[in-house]
Amino acid sequence: MSDLVIYFSRSGENYFGGELKNIEKGNTEVIAEYIQEFTSADLFKVEPAVEYPADYMECIDVAKKEQQKDARPELKQSLDDISSYDTVYIGFPNWWGTLPMPMFTQLEKLDFNGKTVKPFVTHEGSGFGSSQKDLKKLCQGADIKNGLSIPGASVYDVKDTVKAWIDE
Ligand SMILES: Cc1cc2nc3c(=O)[nH]c(=O)nc-3n(C[C@H](O)[C@H](O)[C@H](O)COP(=O)(O)O)c2cc1C
Repeated sequence: MSDLVIYFSRSGENYFGGELKNIEKGNTEVIAEYIQEFTSADLFKVEPAVEYPADYMECIDVAKKEQQKDARPELKQSLDDISSYDTVYIGFPNWWGTLPMPMFTQLEKLDFNGKTVKPFVTHEGSGFGSSQKDLKKLCQGADIKNGLSIPGASVYDVKDTVKAWIDE
């Protein structure tokens, strides 16, 4: 049995300690790739059919509206079967206090019975917010382990922390 990482991550303009910067690779993706390096996990990136704006301010506006509507944005491609995995890492940025809505679209399609779930989040100060409560609903039947919370600006400095968390 092998491991799987299901994650969402957005490149483009983002805030780093109060400063707007353009990044080619999203923060959560950096962590997802460390996990792949340490565990040989398969990676599945959740991508909405309609991309979020690269402009930060536009993006936070679109994301807020989606959350208010409890939307389930369509995905470019979705994963339907995780029966061949036993540990599933679930990673996402904190968006307005919880997971980005495309993660709801994806996770609701999957059967988590008997799986071990290890959640990780990147954020700009709010940690997991209320996402752990949402994950309990989204991953019913899973054994949800201790989560890993990483400030977005420090993803290139936390490889050892990620390794220690994987080994917990
Ligand atoms: C739409 C949007 C909403 C966000 N909401 C929050 C938030 O509520 N709390 C927080 O700490 N950070 C928030 N952030 C910051 C991101 O969580 C943080 O920059 C994260 O590391 C981005 O990960 P990514 O590069 O993998 O997409 C938000 C960012 C965006 C784009």
